[in-house]
Amino acid sequence: MNYKLAVIPGDGIGPDVVEQTLLVLDKVGEKFGHTFQYHKVLAGGCAIDATGGCLPQETIDVCKASDAVLLGAVGGWKWDTLPGDQRPERALLGLRKALGLFANLRPALLFEQLADASPLKPEILAGGLDIVVVRELTGGIYFGEKGVKDTDLGPAAYDIEQYAEEEVRRIAKVAFDMAMKRSKHVTSVDKANVLESSRLWRRVVTEVAKDYPEVTLDHLYVDNAAMQLVRNPRQFDVIVTSNIFGDILSDEASQITGSIGMLPSASLAQGNFGMYEPVHGSAPDIAGQDKANPMATILSAAMMLRYTFGLGQEADAIENAVKSVLDQGYRTPDLFAGEGTLVGTAEMGRRIAEAI
Ligand code: NAD
Ligand code: IPM
Ligand code: MN
Repeated sequence: MNYKLAVIPGDGIGPDVVEQTLLVLDKVGEKFGHTFQYHKVLAGGCAIDATGGCLPQETIDVCKASDAVLLGAVGGWKWDTLPGDQRPERALLGLRKALGLFANLRPALLFEQLADASPLKPEILAGGLDIVVVRELTGGIYFGEKGVKDTDLGPAAYDIEQYAEEEVRRIAKVAFDMAMKRSKHVTSVDKANVLESSRLWRRVVTEVAKDYPEVTLDHLYVDNAAMQLVRNPRQFDVIVTSNIFGDILSDEASQITGSIGMLPSASLAQGNFGMYEPVHGSAPDIAGQDKANPMATILSAAMMLRYTFGLGQEADAIENAVKSVLDQGYRTPDLFAGEGTLVGTAEMGRRIAEAI
């Protein structure tokens, strides 16, 4: 088969980790008889530099005309002083909205080879860790009304958290469907003791649960959830939560697995279309130094094969290649705990491609 991919390398370490991922995809194509056709387009800081805007219309058009999108990361110090609506990060939000990517799946999986890279004690992690954060991606405070105004205390700024019932219903369904294929346990995370939008969230999730009698549902306030994630992460299977809580909790979950450089994600629309990107950002502190871990992006490509293209065997091949390279002891700096062989971005990518 021939698959058309829109590829958005972006900024910072984005181009480095995407380059390695395309090598791995080429290897998968060779081995399994597929062709992946890449159409590279601009978004983020590099697009601002080249065109004046962070999200050119051409980029949206190419994404819409493709079977899936692979994205590195956007943003960086150079553009940090631009007004909010012109920042590189707006490109990511614009793409999510334009492509209808309301469901963000962020699996936090502990590879047993990396248990010593996790900050948690071995006894807390005994038996492994396999959580999926299902993050609502096109609503909430990210997309609510925002602005500035004068108050008694002087100039102020605001961002409104708002959820429509339908937005909660569709993300809850994604979470329950996911739980049915896993351990049948959903934890919904909100702040219903304070926020009206969270009370609506909790009510709708509880309604959706009625259609999934086999799934256990519980609710946690976000502050408790953040604490429980480090106290006893093995209590979680699927976590469903709002845009901003999901952003924060998925970074927290990532570190438990050893490094944010390991965490892939899928951002899905209704149907099979999706954008695939690592959970991490453009890491300007290590950009261009051959230090970035490409595995989060490579594993995101595996999610693309599985979720958008239905190529389970090919996705397994990528995940097994990652495991085998970890088994051989290769570690990028973020994972290096004194043992094994320290390698850079390019060598890690090459070794994973060779292991396909
Ligand atoms: P970050 O995820 O880029 O980096 C946080 C820390 O993790 C840094 O120390 C970095 O070196 C490290 N890190 C991240 N990815 C790594 C990898 N693959 N290998 C090894 N180490 C890695 O978060 P930040 O520093 O808060 O943000 C930097 C920029 O990225 C900002 O402009 C931010 O807005 C943007 N950002 C973009 C995305 C995205 O495009 N999806 C996501 C998050 C942040
Ligand atoms: C992420 C990022 C983005 C988000 C930013 C860069 C807009 O942190 O994908 O996790 O907050 O969604
Ligand atoms: Mn984030």
